[in-house]
Amino acid sequence: MPDPTSLPEWKELLARSQLSQESTITELFDADPGRVDKFSVNCGGLYLDYSKNLVSDEDKQALLGLADSSGLSERIEAMFKGEKINTTEDRAVLHTALRSLEKSDIECDGLIIGDGIEQQRDHLKLFSDRVRSGNWKGSTGKSIRSIVNIGIGGSDLGPKCVCSSLEEFAHPEMDFHFVSNVDGACIRSLLKRLDPETTLFIIQSKTFTTQETLLNANAAINWCEEKLGFQNAQNSPHFVAVTASRTKAEAFGIDKEQVFEFWDWVGGRYSLWSTIGLPIALMVGFPRFMELLEGAAAMDDHFRHAPFEENMPVLMALLGIWYSNFLGADSIAVIPYCERLGLLPSYLQQLDMESNGKSTSLDGEPVSYATGPIVWGQTGTNGQHAFFQLLHQGTRLVPIDFIAARQDEMSYPDQHRVLLGNMLAQAAALMTGQHSEDTSPHKNYPGNHPSNTLLMDRLTPANLGALIALYEHKVFVQGAIWNINSFDQWGVELGKSMAKELLDEETNKSAEFDASTKHLFKLIQAEATSTR
Ligand code: F6P
Repeated sequence: MPDPTSLPEWKELLARSQLSQESTITELFDADPGRVDKFSVNCGGLYLDYSKNLVSDEDKQALLGLADSSGLSERIEAMFKGEKINTTEDRAVLHTALRSLEKSDIECDGLIIGDGIEQQRDHLKLFSDRVRSGNWKGSTGKSIRSIVNIGIGGSDLGPKCVCSSLEEFAHPEMDFHFVSNVDGACIRSLLKRLDPETTLFIIQSKTFTTQETLLNANAAINWCEEKLGFQNAQNSPHFVAVTASRTKAEAFGIDKEQVFEFWDWVGGRYSLWSTIGLPIALMVGFPRFMELLEGAAAMDDHFRHAPFEENMPVLMALLGIWYSNFLGADSIAVIPYCERLGLLPSYLQQLDMESNGKSTSLDGEPVSYATGPIVWGQTGTNGQHAFFQLLHQGTRLVPIDFIAARQDEMSYPDQHRVLLGNMLAQAAALMTGQHSEDTSPHKNYPGNHPSNTLLMDRLTPANLGALIALYEHKVFVQGAIWNINSFDQWGVELGKSMAKELLDEETNKSAEFDASTKHLFKLIQAEATSTR
């Protein structure tokens, strides 16, 4: 992959970015009555209107030129075919195979991956059917009714975001909980509300070494043992594990029949499509879990085969590059006008920022250009009463993704109309702005703030699958053009190992820390001793 700044298209885009300051989005609309048609695209149940962007026809062509000359097509094929594109970990990146409707014949580390995928799907189906129907009994013979997901990062955010998004389809008699933080107050307060006889804990960890997850799992085991009055609760019907390290899960004491597997070639933040999706299958049922995968597979097919000028993930990625690298934006806001999509911004934070928050190129050189943006957001209309002030009148360029479902059977028709009306009004106001009629400068709305609007027909499993896959591929395209590895996460390791050193009482490494940390650590320890 070339250094993108060496490409003639990059230079052309730099020149174009100067020109783009000369016309506003509204002027681009005035100049072209066909703009909405030209700047919108469909894929299955998703419709993207990207006409409210600060991008002209010529800018778009130059961006598409950048995609062509950066070797993106080859990179897409390399991912789908299972080449080891995660070079720093020597791994293939095959989450797309997890949702493929056809059995994958790709061979990875000597195994045909389709075999393992089918086997694990069967396990997921069998187990989720048994639990949902009440036939999976706890140790006292009662059916399981509460599910607690213990995991963090990709072993939490994906299933949690999907479960809350698909609340409409949830099992009516079961409740679902997610514990991730090592803050013990979290699991402790949850346990107070649960009945141990009817609770199932899912320990989710790709590596099965994650400190937070193992501590929370131990807290759950201790609680079960204390309440149910037997030892080794981890080896009971109340605990299952999902992991890429079966040996470690079994060594932890989980019954081998209750270990669900996935593989090294599934990145943690791309794992909700694997057995990590167990809470989803438990909540909405296996057939709907499959619909989620099918929606994602439809987006995969579109991404792999649609020409770049009609390719939703490619277009969204190119717009992001335009803003980050040429117009100086540092962040993007994702604002779903749907309360059930409230966790989507946090899910996308990990997806985007852990994938593309990198400054070393695939050739091992420091990059000289901006890479992954800061991703943030929350639902509308709530955000309107919090941070929209900055979006309308602040000094920063913040491109926005508005997301909504056109119909929502869970809402009231009049409220849904108001919800979506607000979204459209905000996007329009941000774009057109308004000049103060009484010349009060503080009442000026400069406008020219760009946004995408993504509409789905309904928030169904299939549309949600397509939406998440859309963002996965958008992030992939950006990483490919920036010539970085979107699939490792070395940046999170240093802090983890320093926390271990600081807390290790035997080695007393805390003495080697900087003066500020040592001082703060002493203060914390003094407090801990006085409250013991
Ligand atoms: O610390 C980052 C990370 O490795 C994420 O990439 C991952 O999703 C999360 O921790 C949890 O890891 P695991 O599933 O191995 O417990």
